[in-house]
Amino acid sequence: MKKPKNANQKLTMIVAASENDVIGVDGDLPWRLSSDLKRFKKLTMGHHIIMGRKTYESIGRLLPGRTTVIVTRQKSFDAPGAKVVHSIESALEACGDDANPFVIGGAAIYGLATPLVDEIQLTRVHVEVQGDTYLPQIDWEQWESVSCERFKPDGKNDFAYSFEVHQRR
Ligand SMILES: NC(=O)c1ccc[n+]([C@@H]2O[C@H](COP(=O)([O-])OP(=O)(O)OC[C@H]3O[C@@H](n4cnc5c(N)ncnc54)[C@H](OP(=O)(O)O)[C@@H]3O)[C@@H](O)[C@H]2O)c1
Repeated sequence: MKKPKNANQKLTMIVAASENDVIGVDGDLPWRLSSDLKRFKKLTMGHHIIMGRKTYESIGRLLPGRTTVIVTRQKSFDAPGAKVVHSIESALEACGDDANPFVIGGAAIYGLATPLVDEIQLTRVHVEVQGDTYLPQIDWEQWESVSCERFKPDGKNDFAYSFEVHQRR
């Protein structure tokens, strides 16, 4: 597939997934991980964040300091302050010359974006949970792990977790 993005642009997928690849339950996250939310904020600040309509509704607001790009099939969908688009290609076009847009989910949008992504910022949550939304299949052979930091649970983080960075080989 031809990449519908600038040659100098890095597209990052940012996702938190359990050991059994669950990313969501009942339209929400299956855990409370304060450190992950802080890291998400730090990494995405100042950039475009591409999300599916369901994730937008789950967040329930625009995230300050970032440009929200919502992917939906609904031609009349309106979200004041956000850019509304109808394909992943249009989502990337909407990011203009942002050097590092982020794909922030959910499963449907990760699935569309995976072939285009250059880097995956994965928070691996060290627990097996029941859920209804899963990380799409990723062929990890195509990805090089460039860093991994593991943390213990504490009062603000329900489970042990690791911050992993993977770059496309
Ligand atoms: N753990 C994490 O890191 C993480 C991150 C984000 C979200 N989540 C979780 O993931 C769940 C939501 O994920 P999801 O997969 O159900 O929903 P989603 O990916 O957020 O949004 C799905 C919607 O995107 C639109 N869409 C999908 N494919 C499209 C296409 N080819 N062209 C145009 N629009 C398209 C459709 O919107 P319309 O129906 O409006 O047409 C579809 O209903 C929630 O539980 C959320 O909490 C987890």
